[in-house]
Amino acid sequence: MHDLRLGVIGAGQRSTLAATAHRPGRGCRITAVCDTDPAALTRLPAERAFTDYRDLLDDDGVDAVLVATPDDTHAEIAIAALRVGKAVYLEKPLAITIADCDEVLRTAADTGTRLYLGHNMRHMGVVRLMREVIARGEIGEPKTIWVRHFVGRGGEYYFKDWHADRRRTTGLLLQKAAHDLDVIHWLAGGYTERVSAFGDLMMYGNLDRRPPGTPPAEGWLREWPWPPSASTGLHHLIDVEDVSVMNMRLDNGVIAAYQQCHFSPDYWRNYTVIGTHGRLENLGDGPGSVVQVWNSGQSACREPDHTYRVPAATGGHGGADEAIMEEFLRFARHGGPTDTSPVAARMSVAAGYLATLSLRDGGTPFDVPPLDAATLRYFMPEKLSD
Ligand SMILES: NC(=O)c1ccc[n+]([C@@H]2O[C@H](COP(=O)([O-])OP(=O)(O)OC[C@H]3O[C@@H](n4cnc5c(N)ncnc54)[C@H](O)[C@@H]3O)[C@@H](O)[C@H]2O)c1
Repeated sequence: MHDLRLGVIGAGQRSTLAATAHRPGRGCRITAVCDTDPAALTRLPAERAFTDYRDLLDDDGVDAVLVATPDDTHAEIAIAALRVGKAVYLEKPLAITIADCDEVLRTAADTGTRLYLGHNMRHMGVVRLMREVIARGEIGEPKTIWVRHFVGRGGEYYFKDWHADRRRTTGLLLQKAAHDLDVIHWLAGGYTERVSAFGDLMMYGNLDRRPPGTPPAEGWLREWPWPPSASTGLHHLIDVEDVSVMNMRLDNGVIAAYQQCHFSPDYWRNYTVIGTHGRLENLGDGPGSVVQVWNSGQSACREPDHTYRVPAATGGHGGADEAIMEEFLRFARHGGPTDTSPVAARMSVAAGYLATLSLRDGGTPFDVPPLDAATLRYFMPEKLSD
């Protein structure tokens, strides 16, 4: 079996993910890389390098592409790749508007080209463990899910580059939350149909900024200034929120809440799922952290009935990057079912997008528009079989 020949478009921070796919002689090798920044082209061991993604898409020596460019470019690049029949691994989020998501999905359906969404949290040990606990019926039928997302180092990760510009992300309730909204849907077994939110820019709006066109200081992503108000050299344009809270009603009746803060002293997410027969909660979200379950009927605050440990794993995002790449490489070659889902990715963007509109409109509730039936049928024929 020859190696799948992979072209990587966007070789920034996430080039670490692409690097996990490079295994010459063992199923996949990177044959081409593209980045608009020529300095980034040396980050990956490609045979050919381009600064225009269209040249990479014209390359006959590329079977599949991994797209890890900023979010606002995802739809355009993915659509172009699908049209020339190259299988696509697209980093999350699928796109920054619902309309663009739908266009990408329609193009995949029309061309029959394989589209894979990089929602690597579905391959994180803590998420899989929570799903297993729910599938075993340990908490009964999930009825409500609450997620608190503590984003430590938010100033460094999200307010020093394109993430801070809403034209490039819509907002962090979409950009950052797309993962957790997808996990909420996955754990609940339903998709958001109505959403409302509040949010504000509380910390990073009035701190020191860099002039336009100047790069962040060397080593910026290794820093963790404390307190967060000590952050300097932020992006020249900041018009996204650093605190946001959203409420959702899902199409199966589950009620969910998601909260995000970018100036927390710690960096992890805490899930609570309450079902008809119990409650689960994670403490920590990496390998070695725990998922606790309370499912006997006593009222006081007390020790959990069961405690499960997230298995050890190495690699990016607690081993999720390696696991998702395995799944993608298999899918790009052979197709078949996957744990991540383009339709689910669209539904997480839809929830985050409309929540962002809501928080910028005083908390007005919005209804999520359905995906058109033909596209849904292509991706999930079982949903529309009757
Ligand atoms: N799944 C995850 O856990 C995870 C984690 C981090 C980031 N991401 C996603 O990965 C993507 C990349 O994030 P990042 O942190 O690597 O960003 P980054 O800014 O570090 O890198 C993006 C790279 O794309 C290049 N680029 C920009 N426009 C381009 C274009 N039109 N054609 C080719 N190259 C272009 C830039 O020069 C840069 O090198 C984003 O969509 C982000 O949301 C996912």
